[in-house]
Amino acid sequence: MSTLENLSCPIDAAPLSRVERVLKCPHGHTYDLAKTGYINLLPVQNKRSKDPGDSKEMVAARQAFLNQQHYLPIVNAVLSSWPQGALSDKISLLDAGCGEGYYLDKLACQLSSQGIEVTRTGLDISKWAILAASKRDKDVSWVVGSNASLPMPEQSFDAVLCLFGFPVFDEFSRVLKDNGLLLLVESGADHLIELRRILYPAIHDYKPTFTSELSDFDLILEQAESFTFNLDSQAQIQQLLSMTPHIHKASYDGRAAAMLLNAITLTADIKLRWYRKKIKEVNHV
Ligand SMILES: C[S@@+](CC[C@H](N)C(=O)[O-])C[C@H]1O[C@@H](n2cnc3c(N)ncnc32)[C@H](O)[C@@H]1O
Ligand SMILES: [Zn+2]
Repeated sequence: MSTLENLSCPIDAAPLSRVERVLKCPHGHTYDLAKTGYINLLPVQNKRSKDPGDSKEMVAARQAFLNQQHYLPIVNAVLSSWPQGALSDKISLLDAGCGEGYYLDKLACQLSSQGIEVTRTGLDISKWAILAASKRDKDVSWVVGSNASLPMPEQSFDAVLCLFGFPVFDEFSRVLKDNGLLLLVESGADHLIELRRILYPAIHDYKPTFTSELSDFDLILEQAESFTFNLDSQAQIQQLLSMTPHIHKASYDGRAAAMLLNAITLTADIKLRWYRKKIKEVNHV
């Protein structure tokens, strides 16, 4: 069972303490644990829409796709690139925008098998993602919340992971301990290129999601990772499409062409970047 410790009230940032199935702040705000053990710390006033983040259907498609292990090489690339010396006997991880929890689960299993004690928190703005994640693994603190205002105190984590997500660097820096690590994973120029050629009349020039220079962080390692994988049914192809923005962005003709496919070999092309949080200089007056 997860501890749901070290969380803070999303309304006033006061520490939350747990009394059975309720988290309480000293100012009287209360948050009930869901049946499956996750906690919703996204106050209504912080929601831009009624049902923010990935929909139930997108989450189901992502879970079905990831469970086929086509992206296991990404897990292995994260583990093999983990900066030397940054892994100790105990490590606290936040997966910010964790989706249905595949990566946090796989990474923690591998790290635990190396004898490392891993405390895990997974946060996503989609309640559907967190509901699915909370059924996957009971030993994680699963939180519905937003990267824009993380319901956690400063200096809480040794590492923050953000894979294919929506990073908010000020918040990541705030919740990381000094010298803590940030991992960003994003898609590269050739990611799923074979499918994109079918979906779009022209392939646009590649634009990175964010620049590699971040003011609160030092870039310590950048790695490109590329591999191929096979999908051998229309159902698998639709699952992959449904978990990407292409399902909405592609033209009608493109989607119709993809619906005729029964098999495809695809390139996964991703970029990993590891950063270390800079220690802030304190000005003594
Ligand atoms: C492309 S998915 C990636 C999910 C997961 N990291 C993975 O790779 O399987 C992006 C995720 O970010 C979540 N998301 C969107 N905006 C967010 C925000 N402001 N804070 C936290 N999560 C957010 C979505 O609900 C979705 O689950
Ligand atoms: Zn409060």
